[in-house]
Amino acid sequence: MAQVITSVDHLTFSAHNLPALPAPKQVLMVEPTFFSVDYAINPHMADNIGNVDKTAARNQWQQVLGVFRQLGFSVHRLEGQKGLPDMVFCANQSLPYINPAGRKQVVMSIMHSDMRKEEVPYIEQWYRQQGYEIRYLDREKVRAFEGCGDAIWHSGRRLLWGGYGYRTSREAYKTVSGMLDVPVMALRLADEHFYHLDTCFCVLNETTVLIYPQAFTESGLKLIHAVFDHVIEASEDEAKERFACNASCPDGKNVIIQQGCREVNSKLREAGFTIHEVETSEYLKSGGSVFCMKQLLW
Ligand code: ARG
Repeated sequence: MAQVITSVDHLTFSAHNLPALPAPKQVLMVEPTFFSVDYAINPHMADNIGNVDKTAARNQWQQVLGVFRQLGFSVHRLEGQKGLPDMVFCANQSLPYINPAGRKQVVMSIMHSDMRKEEVPYIEQWYRQQGYEIRYLDREKVRAFEGCGDAIWHSGRRLLWGGYGYRTSREAYKTVSGMLDVPVMALRLADEHFYHLDTCFCVLNETTVLIYPQAFTESGLKLIHAVFDHVIEASEDEAKERFACNASCPDGKNVIIQQGCREVNSKLREAGFTIHEVETSEYLKSGGSVFCMKQLLW
């Protein structure tokens, strides 16, 4: 099923006919010991250099971890590394997968910024210890790929959504699609405040997605609407200031989301989801929230 789809005209299948993907059961989180904002590689960081409250960051991280546990996920905790303040955002260094034969695989990222490149081997080593088959992108062909920051699994189906333009280069998806033998729906990102797909696109269940529409192009929006029956929209304020779309719905029912996304939460409740609000204000200073503070695993 390897193919990269960029427009509805090339959509030849319907998502619910694709092979099933099991639900993830585990979570990886990287300890926030060395988390801080030391440089600015996205617009959210610019005014926040040196401005992280470490104690609050630790408590907020612990709270996010607690909700995943409460929902029945087993959480792996990996040490952070001195000098790698963004390593805590462990959605970004890899794209894990379980193939149809039940083999756990992972594609390692090629980080866009030099500041984050050294994070990848630490994460890779952890996957190695867990017995994953490690896959690498060809650096001659792919300039940058930031894992699940930009590559997001459709809920329950072997279908990948791939954002590109800021942190991941478009050509990455040809390789990723071929490597994992899955179709990729490629979406160009159109606003630098929404530099990763996970800042503006949150798959809630097989038929429902939460998006910030202005972060996409017209043809991207058409693709999203062609696949999802229900598209819930976040306002600019909740998407940009509270990272509403960087929520995580790890089981198709429970949504873990930054506190205070009132409009989004009422839409989500109306659609039948259960909301778990968490405070991630220290991580918002770095341009991240719940979704990128963890990696879901099978
Ligand atoms: N400061 C980090 C960066 O700019 C934040 C990453 C947040 N991750 C995410 N998937 N949105 O790389």
